[in-house]
Amino acid sequence: MPATTTTTPEPATEPLCALAAARERTLALASAIPDADLERQIDPLMSPLAWDLAHIAAYEDLWLGHRHGGRPLLREDLAATYDAFETPRAVRGSIELLDAAGARDYLAAVRARTLEVTAERGADPVLYELVLRHELQHLETMLQTLALARLPGFDPPFRRPPAPARAPGRHTGLELVAVPGGTVEIGAPPDGFAYDNERPRHRVDVAPFRIGRTLVTNASWLTFTEGGGYERRDFWEDEPWAWKQEHDITHPRHWQRGPGGSWVEWTACGARPLDPDRPVAHVSWFEAAAFARAHGARLPTEAEWETAATWDRNADPRDGHLGQDAFDTAPVGAYPGGAARCGALDLLGNLWEWTASAFCGYPGFQAFPYPEYSEVFFGRGYRVLRGGSWATDPRVASPAFRNWDLPQRRQIFAGVRLAMDEEHA
Ligand code: AVJ
Ligand code: FE
Repeated sequence: MPATTTTTPEPATEPLCALAAARERTLALASAIPDADLERQIDPLMSPLAWDLAHIAAYEDLWLGHRHGGRPLLREDLAATYDAFETPRAVRGSIELLDAAGARDYLAAVRARTLEVTAERGADPVLYELVLRHELQHLETMLQTLALARLPGFDPPFRRPPAPARAPGRHTGLELVAVPGGTVEIGAPPDGFAYDNERPRHRVDVAPFRIGRTLVTNASWLTFTEGGGYERRDFWEDEPWAWKQEHDITHPRHWQRGPGGSWVEWTACGARPLDPDRPVAHVSWFEAAAFARAHGARLPTEAEWETAATWDRNADPRDGHLGQDAFDTAPVGAYPGGAARCGALDLLGNLWEWTASAFCGYPGFQAFPYPEYSEVFFGRGYRVLRGGSWATDPRVASPAFRNWDLPQRRQIFAGVRLAMDEEHA
């Protein structure tokens, strides 16, 4: 290579490579979906996928081009439409949006400017990580929408090989393992990027408890469903019961009875027979709580969940079913290398796990870098989910990461891990 002299700062290679890799995945997914399906609102709960694409661009433009780079917004005229709060999900299906080609152009134009700004100013590690994880999280949201869409003939543009086969029927999700209590620290470690809601790291007292070795399997949920679990009034608290009755909920969101009465399960790419060894997915917090109650158990608190995930850890918790490229769950327990010290499997990956905890700020919480990321959701009935799913990037999933949604929601790639007090075990 010829020697060159340059006055530009060191190229910020790692953040730009990570942004490029995420973008490649986003665009590959979008290219596998017909433009007409990108542009329509597939489900009233979700944005049109082209909105997600343009929103990813608007977010990058705001934080990197404008705030970091000091430039005016590239498309001031689009700022309100693609701001999640100024244009809530409910109206995104009925207003004028960029079409799919327009959204792709917007993404490309913003990225070109990000590269210019980075060449001039270098990369702010926190803001670049924020923008990167924002895109990765929206990709999971888009995968939820895709799963709701049940597009005929959808062919994933990339796909990881299936998880190694395990002995079938070995796990049910009903076996609980012991975790000693004590004063534990939860929250993100002080170094490195973390979301505001993961800080400050703080101590909590956790009584000895038991937690599911695996997520609850489809086999266990089928026994619940076919044993009348959705009709047993005593399994359900009042609010969940009212919700279930109103919406006539009798099975998980993506289960469907096939010909001859056998169950099929819809995935992000088509339907397959219900697999007894995969974890039950797309159940609400309400259903999760009823299932737990039916088994004399409960959901773990988020402090318990994080304790199980971090206690005396000697394995890489990211050795799990993560990566946004599986397009389906894996049988539970397929990643023994990620086992926690207590013996719990799949804490990171496969499916998000509903916890008993309401989403709120840790003591001493400070909004960063903007209150709309977390703070506006505190104390509004959201429940915390932990762990990440097959549709989560390993860069996002961590033992401290907190996801949240309303207790009636079922579009999330979420399942159930049981817990119980040690004294009741
Ligand atoms: C953390 C997944 C609940 O999707 O609402 C995306 C992530 N924040 N854009 C969401 C997020 C802003 C957030 N969740
Ligand atoms: Fe967003």
